[in-house]
Formats: sequence, C-alpha cells, structure tokens
Amino acid sequence: MLKEEIEQIKAEIAGLKACSQKEAEEWRVRLLGKKGEITQLFEEFRTVAPELKKEFGRTLNELKQTAMAKIAELKAATEDSGAQDGPKQDLSMPGDPKDLGSRHPVSIVRQEIVEIFRKFGYDVAEGPEIEDDYHVFEALNFPANHPARDMQDTFFVSAGHLNPILLRTHTSSIQVRTMETVKPPIRVICPGRVFRNEAISARAHCIFHQVEGLYIDEKVTFADLKQAILLFAREMFGADAKIRMRPSYFPFTEPSSEVDVSCNICHGKGCNVCKGTGWLEILGCGMVDPNVLKASGIDPQKYSGFAFGMGIERIAMLKWQVNDLRHYFENDLRFLREFSTAVEV
Ligand code: PHE
Repeated sequence: MLKEEIEQIKAEIAGLKACSQKEAEEWRVRLLGKKGEITQLFEEFRTVAPELKKEFGRTLNELKQTAMAKIAELKAATEDSGAQDGPKQDLSMPGDPKDLGSRHPVSIVRQEIVEIFRKFGYDVAEGPEIEDDYHVFEALNFPANHPARDMQDTFFVSAGHLNPILLRTHTSSIQVRTMETVKPPIRVICPGRVFRNEAISARAHCIFHQVEGLYIDEKVTFADLKQAILLFAREMFGADAKIRMRPSYFPFTEPSSEVDVSCNICHGKGCNVCKGTGWLEILGCGMVDPNVLKASGIDPQKYSGFAFGMGIERIAMLKWQVNDLRHYFENDLRFLREFSTAVEV
C-alpha cells in the first residue's frame, strides 16, 4: 500500500509544472510541508514491518530528494519571470527624486580660465601634486636661502636628503616638466592644486588652486605678455576691463610684474571691494629667466618666453564678490548651491 502511494507521488512529481513562485511554494507545502504527502509517508513508515524497513527507507528518502530537487527547479525557473506574475512594480508611481549636485565654484572658474586660454591656442598640462625640490624650486632659479624653501612655507614629505619630496607650492613645477619634454614653441597652461604651510584665514589657505601659463618661442617679448594678459582680463572680467602692471620679483622671471585689473564692481571709481583704489590684483607674471630656460635644456640665445600664474580662488572671489576664501573649502551646501545655476551644460 505504501509502495503504491510512493509510485503515485513519484508520477505526480514527474508531471509537476508551475508557472509562478507562489505555485511552486504551494507544491512544496503540499508534498514536503508539515502535513505534506511525503511527510505523511514518513509517519506511516513507522508501522512498516522491520524486514521491509530498509528498502522502504531508501525509496522514501529517494522520493524526498526527488521532490526537493523538482521544487528547487520550479522555483529557479519561475524566479525572474516576474512578468508572468503580473507587474510587481507600479510603473505609474512617481520616481525617487535624485538630489543633483552642482559644479564647485572653483571648478567653474578653472574651466572658464582654461577655455579662455584654449581659445588663444594654449594646451593644458598637468603634473604631480607630490613633487621634488628640483622641479618646484631648484630648476626655477630659487636661491638656496629663499624663504619658500623653508619648512615654514613648504610641506615636506621627506626632508633632509639632496632632493626632498614635498607638496608643490605652485604649478610652475608643471612648466618645468613641460620644458624638459617639449621642444619650443611651447604654449601651455597648468591648472592644479597647490599647498603652502600658511595659517588659514579669510585671505589665505594651506590648500588652493592655481592656473599658471607658459609661452616660449623665438622673439617673444614683454609686449606679447602684456597683450595676452589684457585679452585674458577682457574675456574674464568684461570687454571694458583694463590692466596695469606693477614691478615685482619672482626668482624664475626677469623682469617680473604683478597685474591688477580695473575693479569690475565700481569700474575704477573706488569701492570697498577694491578698497577705494579702483584696482584688484589678479596675477603675477614675467619674462622667463634665462637660467630657467637653460636648466631645462632650452637655448636662451634662441628662445625667450613669458610665464604667469594666478590663484583660482582669488579670481572666483573677485567674480562673485566672496569675501572669505574659507567658503571654498568648507563644502557648506548653502554656499555651493548659490552657484548651481552657474553651470553651463
Ligand atoms: N609661481 C608664482 C606663484 O605661485 C606665480 C607666477 C608664475 C609668477 C609665473 C610669475 C610667473 O606665486
């Protein structure tokens, strides 16, 4: 009798079909559940005569294995066919809104500066933030006792040996790397993050961003430098922007100059942004010192060039009249969202 039941269930299993997870589960309960058909047979098995127990035991176990395998197979087969179950999701539900970010004001201004110089035919060059003393100072004609080489201005990664490893204090190091590898004519701008060991205040930070530029060719003069800066200022601050150059000093340029742009708020009349002067300082520049050309294998008899460098945060502060540099690093969403409409797609 038990045998017949086993055969019957076997046939039932062989013919099993299910078209959904739910049906497969129903079959599992029906066969293997607490009161399932196979479970019942195990109950009945207790009453089987001892000499038959061995054979029936084996058959019963086989039946249970077959049933379990079949159910697993049915479940696997119906797993992904959710469509047969009817749609699981209500497609008419409104989606989860995604919080979109906006570009950081420093990125926006960097992009703007890069685009302006691209129009003038400059390529973009990048370089390592962790640099060596040679590319940041030595090749740029910094005298051995220059304060920028001091622990007070520079973050050293490993000091003490001949060519210490440090965090670059300006992106002029990229210009050196470019001169080492590219033959003139060279026209590059070098945007990047720089590090200086300075106390953090409204006007200074230990991390900021620069765009520096380098132009080397035959017969490049100070007039070319002045023209390039003037065109940049007009693109950046408006067609009526004026510039003025003040003599300055950088170890790697001779002569050197600092450049002011006419105040874009009061148009030169004097206001509290330009502190009544009508002018705002925007960058440093100069003619590349012949020693610098020589150090990187460029013949100063044949070639000359100019270089310039500006702080991106400074330009951004002037553009949007932000009065505290620290805003750019705190990532306060209320501040960053002010620029969300400034993204050009
Ligand atoms: N490297 C200078 C700085 O970081 C800027 C500069 C670049 C000045 C090129 C002149 C020429 O302050």
